[in-house]
Amino acid sequence: MLSFQARIVTIILITIVLGWIFSQLYGLVGGLLAALIFLTILLVHQLWHAQNFTKLLMTARYGDVPGALGIWGEIYYRLHKLVKGWRDQVLEVEKQHQRFIQAIQASPNGVIMLNEDDQIEWCNEVAEQHFGIQARRDAMQRITHILRKPAFVQYILRQNYRDPVRLTNMGLYEQYSLDVQIFPYGDKQKLVLSQDISQIEKTDAMRRDFVANVSHELKTPLTVMAGFLETVQELDLTAEERQKYLGLISAQTGRMKNLVDDLLTLAKLEGNPEPPISQTVRVSQLMQRLVMDAEGLSQGAHRIRSEILSNKDFLGDEAEIYSAFSNLVSNAIRYTPAGGEVTVIWKDADEGGVEFVVMDTGPGIAEEHIPRLTERFYRVDRSRSRETGGTGLGLAIVKHVATRHQGELRITSSLGIGSRFTIFIPAQRVVSE
Ligand SMILES: Nc1ncnc2c1ncn2[C@@H]1O[C@H](COP(=O)(O)OP(=O)(O)OP(=O)(O)O)[C@@H](O)[C@H]1O
Ligand SMILES: [Mg+2]
Repeated sequence: MLSFQARIVTIILITIVLGWIFSQLYGLVGGLLAALIFLTILLVHQLWHAQNFTKLLMTARYGDVPGALGIWGEIYYRLHKLVKGWRDQVLEVEKQHQRFIQAIQASPNGVIMLNEDDQIEWCNEVAEQHFGIQARRDAMQRITHILRKPAFVQYILRQNYRDPVRLTNMGLYEQYSLDVQIFPYGDKQKLVLSQDISQIEKTDAMRRDFVANVSHELKTPLTVMAGFLETVQELDLTAEERQKYLGLISAQTGRMKNLVDDLLTLAKLEGNPEPPISQTVRVSQLMQRLVMDAEGLSQGAHRIRSEILSNKDFLGDEAEIYSAFSNLVSNAIRYTPAGGEVTVIWKDADEGGVEFVVMDTGPGIAEEHIPRLTERFYRVDRSRSRETGGTGLGLAIVKHVATRHQGELRITSSLGIGSRFTIFIPAQRVVSE
């Protein structure tokens, strides 16, 4: 490519040569005229290209490269290269930006970016759910116009963002409890982060309930025992009366022991890995043991029947299974009045797998209680259950054991007719004879 000076020199030389040739042919005037016409054509050509160039700058799309000879071809080519370089850079930045957005979208926390006037510049989808906002609709809205909770408004005004603020009953479709914290950045901009703590709050509430329940359950027998002890210490009792009170005290210690044993069993179940699939639970032996237990507990007050309709065994932890099955049997005996009937069945389940069923002709359980029976400490009739020494942990343990064996506890009952408790064990754990 020619340099600028070379081009000027070339044009001057061409003009002189043209002028000279024409002056030889038509005299000096002819020569000057020819040189002038040549320069005019050259000027018009340049102006025409300059105009095209201006049009191109205003309207061209990327990739439009007009063809031209000489310096204009060179200009168009260089311009295209320059634009291509910028475009590649922009695309790269755009790609990084997209990756960045995707990363923030993938975050389990809500993220809102505020400008220096606390207007929403951008937010991710989690923030939309947490705060019930819409990124497009609410863009450039002041956050305090949208999030009007006094606790949050005070928090943002206070300008001390060292600790998060807790907001409850948030969200449009779901109810969230959120920890929201502001992080100032850049030039007076703010990042608002929200973390869903609903689950943590639920667990906290459960833990508090649990501690309250345990304390209450321990306090009752302790109070009763203290009363009896006082009586024994302070009153002048006959040996027979004394014996009676000591018997009552011992019943209360038995209750406390049961409670602690059940709590330990639950803790063990929760802390242990799933039961092995290498151990086989021999059901027919287990059934014999359960029937003997039932007879011992009933003391002849009930008719006890057992039916082994399946010869299948299954893989699991025998001690856990015994504890679960015997819980159901002892419930049936304890809650069924004398003269009633308790039936224990081992059978194939219709949907594959096997079932352990305990049926009784007891008082039955009202519909509304059934879904809650497996909650810890839940008892239908506290006073009746207390008479029988129940703590309300039995069915919680049964459900746990069933779930750990990938099975299920199913309960059906009719008031005045009786109840049916079923532990279902899925086919994957069954071993045939
Ligand atoms: N067969 C049944 N018939 C009637 N009610 C029952 C029967 N089984 C359980 N229930 C009711 O369900 C409640 C919860 O039973 P669960 O076995 O969890 O506790 P519990 O028997 O009171 O105490 P625990 O088993 O810890 O000694 C019982 O208090 C009782 O009200
Ligand atoms: Mg029980």
